[in-house]
Amino acid sequence: MKKISVLFVCLGNICRSPAAEAIFISLLEKKGLKEVFIVDSAGTGSWHIGKKADSRMRIAAERRDINITSKARQITSKDFDQFNYILAMDNSNFRNIQDLKNRTLSNDSAIIKKMQDFRSVFNEQEVPDPYFGGDEGFDYVLDILEDSVNGFLESIC
Ligand code: 4NP
Repeated sequence: MKKISVLFVCLGNICRSPAAEAIFISLLEKKGLKEVFIVDSAGTGSWHIGKKADSRMRIAAERRDINITSKARQITSKDFDQFNYILAMDNSNFRNIQDLKNRTLSNDSAIIKKMQDFRSVFNEQEVPDPYFGGDEGFDYVLDILEDSVNGFLESIC
């Protein structure tokens, strides 16, 4: 069976998208769907390539039994061929992904959406960037992501 592949994308790939990736994997494990999916995350920026996720996000996620293990990488044009779904955390990420796609000569099979297109409980139109804020911002991002990641899975299953 062909797997469904999902790439979560933010700016740095050290806060929001690795959290979304880990929350999605945790949800798939609970539902017995992990083997059906390929899940990854990436950043539109290159500053943090190779780094672990921000420790503030890893600690906040661990309190919810969510283990963030990914290392940062930058999105590339190959991702448009390799992923079925590319989910942007905010409008700026979405525009940057679209710009990269427009400069790419791939077959563009990926469906590009905003993470918050799948929200149900929270009204936020974008997943806010917690990087320059306090610790409470990381918990808020996790709350938002648990809602919209769940909504995304429901929309495709
Ligand atoms: P992320 O957060 O896009 O959710 O990973 C950020 C991480 C780093 C920076 C900005 C946002 N930065 O400016 O280095």
